[in-house]
Amino acid sequence: MLEKINETAAFIKAATQRRPKTAIILGTGLGRLADEIKEKEEIAYRDIPNFPVSTVEGHSGKLLFGTLGGKDIMAMQGRFHFYEGYSMREVTFPVRVMRELGIETLFVSNACGGTNPGFEIGDLMIITDHINLFPEHPLRGKNIDYGPRFPDMSEAYSKALIAKAEAIAAELGITVRKGVYLGTQGPTFETPSEYRMFRILGADAVGMSTVPEVIVANHCGIKVFGMSIVTDLGVEGKIVEVTHEEVQRAADAAQPKMTAIMRELIKRS
Ligand code: HPA
Repeated sequence: MLEKINETAAFIKAATQRRPKTAIILGTGLGRLADEIKEKEEIAYRDIPNFPVSTVEGHSGKLLFGTLGGKDIMAMQGRFHFYEGYSMREVTFPVRVMRELGIETLFVSNACGGTNPGFEIGDLMIITDHINLFPEHPLRGKNIDYGPRFPDMSEAYSKALIAKAEAIAAELGITVRKGVYLGTQGPTFETPSEYRMFRILGADAVGMSTVPEVIVANHCGIKVFGMSIVTDLGVEGKIVEVTHEEVQRAADAAQPKMTAIMRELIKRS
């Protein structure tokens, strides 16, 4: 495992002179941010040794290097989901490579179903914490010395970055929610009873990504900031049929707000 990570990191270091300390996983709602990266260098996942290749339509699968708001960054365009059939090691492999590349802060985004009755479709939610309900833990197996066998998760999402993001949202006049993201394997959306169960468990939102990467980032000592777009509601009385297309549409509509906050936060972090 460590050999593979080192081999991949060495390949990337040889492919670009850039040495960013900030990484972004361009999940749902952040796709457009890729267009704002200046002095852009691209490395296709398929050309990177040991990298999984993304399968989902609309995710082109490349690493981007360049500057965003004058800051050196790297970005993952296309991420790996457990529901696609990747192992947890594959899903989180890029984060371990990031650690080897010297990344100190990771920004992530996703789409989610809102379980908090106060939420509306199109709301932005700053992730304050998560609940891991994936059936396999990404750190299961021999511990890699990037972090302890039993990692602390008391501040999985940086409180300082959350405070900065709230201040930026207020400055920009954008309303944001805060809440707990529950990660589940998918690929089904939830039954009404499952949404209710997740609400009882303490979730404000539920989705099928992010949690594995955030766990591994924490293990590696990488600080995390995450934001979700509420694309549908898992709230009693408001549950209707959900499709991927509707999720995409709601995310596209909220994208400019999410991008504005992230752009500014990355610049100032
Ligand atoms: N459930 C799980 N994942 C999701 C949802 C949802 O309702 N919406 C967007 N991603």
